[in-house]
Amino acid sequence: MTTGACPPRLRPWRLDDSGAVLAAFAHADVARQAWSPVTTEAEAAEWLTRRIEDVERDASFAIDVDGRAVGGVRLSSIDRSQRTAWIGYWLAPKARGRGLASASVATLAEWAFGDLGLERIDLAHRVNNPASAAVALRAGFVAEGVQRAKLRHEGIRYDVATYGRLESDPVPADLSRMAIELPVDAPGADRPRAGTSPA
Ligand SMILES: CC(C)(COP(=O)(O)OP(=O)(O)OC[C@H]1O[C@@H](n2cnc3c(N)ncnc32)[C@H](O)[C@@H]1OP(=O)(O)O)[C@@H](O)C(=O)NCCC(=O)NCCS
Repeated sequence: MTTGACPPRLRPWRLDDSGAVLAAFAHADVARQAWSPVTTEAEAAEWLTRRIEDVERDASFAIDVDGRAVGGVRLSSIDRSQRTAWIGYWLAPKARGRGLASASVATLAEWAFGDLGLERIDLAHRVNNPASAAVALRAGFVAEGVQRAKLRHEGIRYDVATYGRLESDPVPADLSRMAIELPVDAPGADRPRAGTSPA
């Protein structure tokens, strides 16, 4: 289901996304996704600059609804010799419950398997994050196990559920994708592509 005039899409981050980034990172469950605080204009600008410039091992996209960034999806630790990467995602609370996260993850995974030539993508979340588990499974990732006490946050250690999606894994039949606008120098950027909206 879409609510805006333009279909949701993935696009490169822009420095003028700082207001949307600051608003989203004011929510604790989004703030937890960053390694350092994003609470000031300067920190938002630094966060965006890293997303925009760190293109060697990172491919980071804004989830855009009607021209406004409502979330992020990112391939990190891209290893071109092993053909692997990690995927992470977040949505501002107002944008949740519409299938945007699973469609974004599915879209980025398919670009990674296609144009980037990756063969495996890893995903992990704390076991007390059922929404993230639903996104992983909806986007075609396979649960692979639980790492005990893997992450420490505010003095508490959390078990982490791990997933993988292989290039050869079957894709769920009802998986939604969206349009993706690539940076001009990204693999596949010269190829026209169409997207479909989240169901
Ligand atoms: C994880 C997150 C992106 C999910 O957002 P969302 O809008 O619910 O995602 P989608 O609508 O694409 O998919 C949601 C799926 O999760 C399910 N879901 C949502 N909240 C849930 C919950 N609390 N418990 C169980 N399932 C839940 C939905 O029913 C849906 O499943 P379906 O497609 O089978 O119907 C969002 O909660 C978020 O940004 N959280 C904070 C950041 C975060 O935790 N990121 C992941 C780090 S690993």
